[in-house]
Amino acid sequence: MTISPEAIKQLKQEVGIAAARRVKSGMVVGLGTGSTTAFAIAELGARLAGGELKDIVGIPTSFQASVLGKKYGIPLRTLDDVDRIDIAIDGADEVDPAKTLIKGGGAAHTREKVIDSLAGLFIVVVDESKLVDKLGSTFAVPVEVLPMAIAPVTRAVEKLGGKPELRMGIKKDGPVITDQGNMVLDVTFDNIPDAAELEKTLNNIPGVLENGLFVGVADLILVGEFKDGNPII
Ligand code: 5RP
Repeated sequence: MTISPEAIKQLKQEVGIAAARRVKSGMVVGLGTGSTTAFAIAELGARLAGGELKDIVGIPTSFQASVLGKKYGIPLRTLDDVDRIDIAIDGADEVDPAKTLIKGGGAAHTREKVIDSLAGLFIVVVDESKLVDKLGSTFAVPVEVLPMAIAPVTRAVEKLGGKPELRMGIKKDGPVITDQGNMVLDVTFDNIPDAAELEKTLNNIPGVLENGLFVGVADLILVGEFKDGNPII
């Protein structure tokens, strides 16, 4: 069954709100990137404004997350300021049955992996369209690359059997540049038999900063889906 864009948006909102409601006063919260997490950040702001939530701080995973955090009145800190992250809330592009993720649709996976991995509880917020049986079946693996190394990394990725494509901006007049000033190769693999192995192999290529395979990082997957026409988590 194909779900309409409006219905997907509704699921993203429901699941984002549900994750934000798990945050308690005094917590340090990793703020993920993307349209689903944006709903969670808005809900955190609403709970703070309503006085139901107090003294939380947010650690943004991207420029986008820090803009939203500021917009919704969440005090922001860096990793230098805190000694723990209680909860991180972040989206994903694919989730397999082993809770392995592909992330980086928003080119933010490098900082996301740092922050999500540090969290005591990493909650992944997705709508049902993100669930896959086989990792890599709907989404390529994003790889963040230093611009000066884009040619050798492209060749190295091809040698591994991947089909890399330089991610371009919406207007297609230049490459997407990450918050770190790097580029992204979206690498399609016919098969990913061992995601943990591929994650390490990709990161071992000189010039690669980080890739979007998240193995053993997710603790809890909140899925928004429709049952009998009603959105449920
Ligand atoms: C950004 C990400 C996002 O979390 C992922 O792309 C999901 O985004 P959305 O919630 O908009 O579907 O990994 O780098």
